[in-house]
Amino acid sequence: MKILVIGGGGREHALAWKLAQSPATSRLYAAPGNPGIATLAECVPANVTDPDRLLAIAESAGIDLTVVGPEAPLAAGVVDMFRSRGLPIVGPLQSAARLESSKGFAKEVMTQAGVPTARSVTVESAAQAHTAIRRFELPVVLKADGLAAGKGVVIANTREEAERTAAAMLAGKLVGDAGHRLIVEEFLKGEEVSFIAITDGRTVVPLEATQDHKAIFDGDRGPNTGGMGAYCDGRILSPSATDDVLSTVILPVVEYMRGIGQPFTGFLYAGLMLTGDGPKVLEFNVRLGDPETQALMLRLNSDLAGLLTECARGALSETRPRWSTDPSMCVVMAAAGYPGQVRTGDSITGIAEAERDGALVFHAGTARVNGEVRTAGGRVLGVTASGADLPAAIARTYDAVSRIRFEGAQYRTDIGVKGLKRW
Ligand SMILES: Nc1ncnc2c1ncn2[C@@H]1O[C@H](COP(=O)(O)OP(=O)(O)O)[C@@H](O)[C@H]1O
Ligand SMILES: [Mg+2]
Repeated sequence: MKILVIGGGGREHALAWKLAQSPATSRLYAAPGNPGIATLAECVPANVTDPDRLLAIAESAGIDLTVVGPEAPLAAGVVDMFRSRGLPIVGPLQSAARLESSKGFAKEVMTQAGVPTARSVTVESAAQAHTAIRRFELPVVLKADGLAAGKGVVIANTREEAERTAAAMLAGKLVGDAGHRLIVEEFLKGEEVSFIAITDGRTVVPLEATQDHKAIFDGDRGPNTGGMGAYCDGRILSPSATDDVLSTVILPVVEYMRGIGQPFTGFLYAGLMLTGDGPKVLEFNVRLGDPETQALMLRLNSDLAGLLTECARGALSETRPRWSTDPSMCVVMAAAGYPGQVRTGDSITGIAEAERDGALVFHAGTARVNGEVRTAGGRVLGVTASGADLPAAIARTYDAVSRIRFEGAQYRTDIGVKGLKRW
């Protein structure tokens, strides 16, 4: 089976790494891929928001199965395009991808399906925002409706800040068109968990829970990023908590989407806040998380190609995947300046040394220049390892991190630490 991975970050490198181990995989392709993926797959240049180009790549290579990494191609309708040509693909149709590309739509679905989430009001003018902001206690959360690459959420500590931010967002000054509609919502307290399930529109299979670390600095301080690290550990959610999230969040949404004639297929990712009143949904993503995937793939013992094939065929079996009991984690090494303007072009050393004791170094923002791997983006590498327990996973991962060098490298030193209380 020829498999195409759409995307070129650490998540896609981890998917390619896992898919390469499947006996069903005869050949792997990636569009556009990256220098790490290139060691496993044939990388074909592509703009991932150009569905025509992606379809042309799949048709000319005779691809049997495609898996989409990032949200942008899904929001651009790549799944609609592939399905119209009868090509098996894992991901939601554009209409169902609105669960991520429109937070207002996601709220509407949650309300209709009775899914626990923060109380909210959707507004489209500064006057409406003014009224809405007064209905919530402080801090109050403002969210741009559309895709904003992690920059569309502001937690305002005063009403003045909330009003200023709302006005700027609505005027298109903060996140462009994504902010023309806003969600004003209640601030929820608790611990965040990423809960991802795969579904063919009917059957739902949960993956193991993970925890992401969004802020750039240790202790969850500083501005939000695409994700600075994640860990995957069977102790994050108990089996009964997992079943609870399935029955109160994932299944109602999947059933509701099917009911409105827009069945959701692919990976449904619920960003949860574990509050005193139980888990509540912060947002949905319609794809795997990055860097959650890097940690997940390390623990997954089942055959990924088989699981994805079942999903794409609409024949997902109820059988839950098998997972290693060893916790895993991924530490993102980012370029200087990230999450702002980043410096690129620095040579990276130590990747082979980092991988010597079983760690994996997934590439994200790298480029191969004159035979040398250099920095080429914000999140550069995802150093990933597992251990017999969480402390061992943390120690092994950071030992591998310490062997990698590039100018201005920044990374968090506390990935996984919030999980230690469960050990
Ligand atoms: N209602 C809320 N209460 C508290 N924190 C929130 C709330 N909504 C979002 N956040 C915080 O903001 C982050 C980003 O919000 P999210 O809804 O996941 O949007 P996106 O990932 O699109 O930026 C969350 O990971 C969480 O830390
Ligand atoms: Mg999020």
